[in-house]
Amino acid sequence: MSEINALDPSQYLIKDEPFYRPVADEVELFESGYASRMPIMLKGPTGCGKSRFVEYMAHKLGKPLITVACNEDMTASDLVGRFLIDINGTRWQDGPLTVAARIGAICYLDEVVEARQDTTVVIHPLTDHRRVLPLDKKGELVEAHPDFQLVISYNPGYQSMMKDLKQSTKQRFGGFRFDYPEEAVEADIVAKEAEIDKETAEKLVQIAQRSRNLKGHGLDEGISTRLLVYAAQLINKGVDPKKACTMALITPLTDDDDILDTLLTTVDTFFE
Ligand SMILES: Nc1ncnc2c1ncn2[C@@H]1O[C@H](COP(=O)(O)OP(=O)(O)OP(=O)(O)O)[C@@H](O)[C@H]1O
Ligand SMILES: [Mg+2]
Repeated sequence: MSEINALDPSQYLIKDEPFYRPVADEVELFESGYASRMPIMLKGPTGCGKSRFVEYMAHKLGKPLITVACNEDMTASDLVGRFLIDINGTRWQDGPLTVAARIGAICYLDEVVEARQDTTVVIHPLTDHRRVLPLDKKGELVEAHPDFQLVISYNPGYQSMMKDLKQSTKQRFGGFRFDYPEEAVEADIVAKEAEIDKETAEKLVQIAQRSRNLKGHGLDEGISTRLLVYAAQLINKGVDPKKACTMALITPLTDDDDILDTLLTTVDTFFE
């Protein structure tokens, strides 16, 4: 009987190169950061390319990638590991952060501000000169593999003051600010990702830009690059552009009838 070995790095390698369109010099800067295994934070709104960037970099560097989606119920044990009870008694099971530290993966903690602060402090000894992860319950001190790197992401718009990261956490990272790319670049991304023509992609981007101007005026967040790709994929499948926009760009965004009307009118001006 074969059991998946959690410590086999090959399962975490990204086989095919992800499509990532650089926006500035972030690829070179990330590589320079990785050279000294600098912990990195990616800030930016939802659906702007943070996860795609990490996948691309892991592939480019040829390193395994372990992604953990953080949430408010997450405990330190979810990251580090815990004892499990089975018929043979108790056995220790490494959490994803421990696996990444052992095998030399890039560990990507997505939406890390969501996690409780006692969770974020477990990363402290891993993200300074010590590069160790203490497994208190097990009584083991894991020394991080030389290839290990920690990457975290968060959306600066979402968290309240209460949920912000502590300075002692923040000041362990180098950072990148992500945002929706400028018009031509975003249209290029949407056209390539969904295989639609440039002209249609440009119209979609312009609709998104109008919605982004409504941020803070009834919308928490404008239409993301991710949603533009959804709409473009529907159009690629032969869906009428207006229906595609309604389904992918507008309905998910808001429940406010006035804003819905405004956005639908915007769509009408771009697609007859
Ligand atoms: N620079 C880019 N190159 C290629 N694709 C991109 C780029 N930026 C965004 N995309 C597209 O946008 C989609 C969403 O990006 P991604 O999943 O990386 O967002 P995210 O910033 O991680 O969002 P979230 O915070 O919600 O997790 C991708 O699946 C991809 O199609
Ligand atoms: Mg993401």
